[in-house]
This record gives sequence, C-alpha cells and structure tokens, in this order.
Amino acid sequence: MPIPSALVCVRCGATHPVDHFAEDCPACRANGAPANLTVAYDTAPGEGASKDAIRRDRGSMWRWESFLHASAGDAVTLGEGNTPLLPAPALGLGDVWIKDESRNPTWSFKDRLGSGALSMAKKFGAEVIASSSSGNAGASAAAYAAKAGIPCIVFTFVGSAGPLVLQMRAYGAMVVKVTDKADRWRLQSLGVRELGWYPTSPFFGPVVGSNPYGMEGYKTIAYEIAEAFDWQPPDWCVLPVCYGDALYGMWKGFEELKALGWIDRTPRFVAAEVSGSLPAALASGEPLPPEVARNSPSIATSIGAAQSTVQALDVLRRSKGVAVTIGDDELRRWVVTLAAKEGIWPEASSAAPFAAIERLRAAGIIAPDHRCVALLTAAGLKDPGPIEQALPEPPLVSGGLTELLAALKNSYGFTYG
Ligand SMILES: Cc1ncc(COP(=O)(O)O)c(C=O)c1O
Ligand SMILES: [Zn+2]
Repeated sequence: MPIPSALVCVRCGATHPVDHFAEDCPACRANGAPANLTVAYDTAPGEGASKDAIRRDRGSMWRWESFLHASAGDAVTLGEGNTPLLPAPALGLGDVWIKDESRNPTWSFKDRLGSGALSMAKKFGAEVIASSSSGNAGASAAAYAAKAGIPCIVFTFVGSAGPLVLQMRAYGAMVVKVTDKADRWRLQSLGVRELGWYPTSPFFGPVVGSNPYGMEGYKTIAYEIAEAFDWQPPDWCVLPVCYGDALYGMWKGFEELKALGWIDRTPRFVAAEVSGSLPAALASGEPLPPEVARNSPSIATSIGAAQSTVQALDVLRRSKGVAVTIGDDELRRWVVTLAAKEGIWPEASSAAPFAAIERLRAAGIIAPDHRCVALLTAAGLKDPGPIEQALPEPPLVSGGLTELLAALKNSYGFTYG
C-alpha cells in the first residue's frame, strides 16, 4: 500500500501537508481560481501490484488497496464498488455501457467517496464527521460514519425532504436544518475550524470539490472499467457532473493505470451538467468556471449547483473533453427510457449522460464506432418525482377480460393478439 506523502494542488502543483484536507490551495485562491488538493504518495500507486490478485478479490473497492490510502483491513467499508458494467443496446445510442453505481450500499456512487473519506477520518482519529448535503453525499457520509462508529452531523435546509434526508436519519446522523442555505457552510466551517470536525463535503465557496481522501475512492471506478474491458479503455466516459469529484477521480485513476503501463491510452471525458458553467468556461478560456444562474431549478437536484470547479474544468481540458448542458425534458425522457428499456431506474441527474451521448453522436463529436461508458450515479427511488410525473396513472379495472384489455389499450396503448 502506498503511503500518502502530501496533498498536491490540482492546478499549480504546490504541495501541502497530508492533514491539509479541510482547505484548498492558498496560492490558487489568492489568484482567483481556488483549486482542490489531491493525494500524492511515497511510491507510485499500483507499483508492484498484480492484476491477477486484484481480480480474485471481490470484497470491496479496497481490493485496489495498492492504489489507495488505506489497507483493505483498515478501511471503513460496506462492500462498495465492483458494480456491474452492462451493455445497453436497447437505447439506440450505439456502443454504450452503463456503469451502474446505483448498486452501491446506499444506492449511489458517493459510497466510494464515503468509504475513502471515513477510512482516513478513522486514521486521523476524527471525533465528529460533518457534511453539508441534502443529497447522496450526506446519506453516504451518514452510513459510513455509522459503520466507523463516529458521530455524524449533516446540515440540510428547510424544504429538503424525501427519501434522501430520511436515509441520513435512518443511519443515525444528526440532521440539522437551516433556513438560509448559506448557514450550512457557516456552521460547518465553525465546527471544522474551531472544534476540529472532519469535513467530507464542500463547506466554503467558490467550491473546489470534496475531501481529497474521499475523492481517491472514485479512482476505483476507472480501474474497474479498464479491468472489465480487459485493459482496453473506452473512447469516452460520460458523467453527470456538478463539482466534478467523480470526473477528477476517474481521470486520475486512468492516468495512474497508463503510468503503470496497464493501459496504453486514456478516455476522453464528457461532463453532462445542468447549469452551463463548464461549457461557458471551456468557451471563454477562464480558469474558474463562472456562476450561471437558472430561471428555475433543474429536476436533477443532485447536480443543480450554479457553478462548477477548477478540478472539473482541468479534466475536460486535459482529456480533450466536452461539456453539455442538459434540460429537464431530456432528463425525464431518458429516466423513462432507461427504466423501461434497460430495467435500470436512475435518479434524474443520472439520466444526463445518456442525453449527452445522444446529442454528441448526432453532432458527430462522438464517432459512430466509439465506445462510451455512461456513469449511472444513483438510483431512482431516491427521488421518485420526475418519473411519477412522466408515467400514466394506472387504470382502475373491474369486470372481466374485455374490460381489462380495454383498460390496457387506453392507458398504455397495449393491444393483445
Ligand atoms: C446522483 C449524483 N450524480 C452526480 C453528482 C455529481 O457529482 P460530482 O460533484 O462528483 O460532479 C452528484 C452530486 O452530488 C449526485 O448526487
Ligand atoms: Zn494551487
């Protein structure tokens, strides 16, 4: 297992101590482009590892311990990772595969972040975990804190409701509501700065991304994809993106495999987002993605932030990537299509990659013979609203077969025989 030796700025490469995880790069912040830090190791990740030994161990994402910051034995794990990579021929999008992260322990990709962050929290002896999230990150932090036996406080705001907040409460997190959204960060930063609480989520602006040790977990998505395709990476990886944590982590994972010689090229990345922040930054060449406010909130609430990050932009620039802004109608259509044609019901944000592939194939940017992997980040049950609005109301039937067949025809257009 490599030992973390420093935290390195993703933008300028400046190094910081390994316990600098609650801050960003001071130099880049002073230059107006605040940037996240990423973990550097004493030896190259994966050095001396054996593909065969890794392949045999399916316990959790920590089978990749020779690339990560904790050993499988020390990690806080709920068996995250090793999610299926499924072909999706019925979508009509060509050679597209779904990396189904909704199969993780709390039904989202954030479990890789939760496991990565909590494993280091345990090593640092953290006494309290703090997260500002009304969504998947908070639910995952709550579950992994429960597993680690560390108290967890999750800041949400009045009005956030539904399965996600219930999930946090179920795992025993102390959920605290505020009326002004900005108070979440203010309170969390007081806890972090004055009481030494361990942050897993962003808690100051402009956001740079999440806890660097948590983000290491996302590297394992890249390793699993490369391994599943027998070390022939896809041409494109397409992700729903907000702050670009998973985007950065996956990119870093592929880069590490290339440095080791396990793969000979890395995929291009597509950020499917809903604000317009990343396309604006790519077009303008600015170092910091701008805030792009919407007139009404997106149905993809998990990726609804108005401003993306330097780390996300950096990956798009380095991988010759693309950013696409997706609207509500496309999201609804793809949620329904995925569930009905491939048997996988995604959260609305997780439908964004499919809308992006459709558009980029039509524009000729993704070539007809190019292989794409779409990251399906979370399960539909977490936010059932969008599909409920899009589906027909089930008919009430009484009587016999004639009435039944008439109702099926009326409600669903189904004709039998
Ligand atoms: C379901 C889902 N998809 C995608 C994202 C975007 O994540 P990232 O910040 O890694 O870009 C989130 C973030 O909260 C999410 O909950
Ligand atoms: Zn920097």
